[in-house]
Amino acid sequence: MRLLIFLIVISSSQVFSAGGNCGVYLSEEGGEKGVCDNVDIDHLDLPSLQRGVKLYMNYCFGCHSLEYARYNRVAADLGIPDDLFMDNLVFGDQKPGDLMTIAMKSEDSEQWFGVPPPDLTLVTSLRSSEWVYTYLKSFYVDNSRPLGVNNKVYENVGMPNVLANLQGVQRSVCKLVPDIAENSGLKQDPLTGEIIYKEKCGFLEVDLNSGELDEEAFNENLRDLTNFLAYMADPIKSERESLGVYVILYLILFTIFSYLLYREFKKEVH
Ligand code: HEC
Repeated sequence: MRLLIFLIVISSSQVFSAGGNCGVYLSEEGGEKGVCDNVDIDHLDLPSLQRGVKLYMNYCFGCHSLEYARYNRVAADLGIPDDLFMDNLVFGDQKPGDLMTIAMKSEDSEQWFGVPPPDLTLVTSLRSSEWVYTYLKSFYVDNSRPLGVNNKVYENVGMPNVLANLQGVQRSVCKLVPDIAENSGLKQDPLTGEIIYKEKCGFLEVDLNSGELDEEAFNENLRDLTNFLAYMADPIKSERESLGVYVILYLILFTIFSYLLYREFKKEVH
């Protein structure tokens, strides 16, 4: 019984942890507004985490610190030797034991972007991994904004589109989609039987061949980046899970012993 309750609690926490509110993001044709895309987070996928930290150090660390983490701890967790990590991913004279802070002063960045870039150590706990993943793919051209870009997940965002050279030029477009009636089912013309289309706006579309990567490769990069940030928010997840196995084994043993004891006591009663 104890074990059963444990398993139910563990599995339900997995189910309810997904999600987040993704603003006016429209995933695909007919998709609902504001639903974030799913992302496959796996803290045991070291190659993905290694690609993720590389992307992070190259594209994000200039503005976003990870100030609750130390270089050597991250290097060790991701299976990267300290010297390789410091030589290839860290620019400047930081030491392996230093916290991952950045040199940019928040007064300066506030002037440049309107808001200082927040520390991202815990961002996937705050927003959810799905939110971060969807946010990073949702920048689009908007010439009314100071930086020329806007974001479907985070409207009027102060961050520039730093991955634009990989993704390409993305725009918000309107498309003709099949009209769906209230009580579900496609609307059809009563005379001809043809499906009726209506215009729906807010879809994202990348200009052909404007980026270095195609959509699939770009999303794979975003998955690695998000996976790294999810690790960052919960670096001892692996340790906790292996500890959990021992806890459950202990409970099983404990249950057996209490049952044996119960049988002994029952003998005495008769
Ligand atoms: C040139 C500086 C700059 C770079 C480089 C940059 N960002 Fe940002 N980022 C910002 C600013 C400024 C904000 C705050 C935007 C706001 O609140 O309007 C921000 C906000 C964010 C947020 C939202 C945080 C929150 O909870 O509000 C996330 C997530 C994020 N950035 C991720 C990234 C990632 C991942 C990268 C690397 C691919 C990156 N950023 C690179 C400047 C930058």
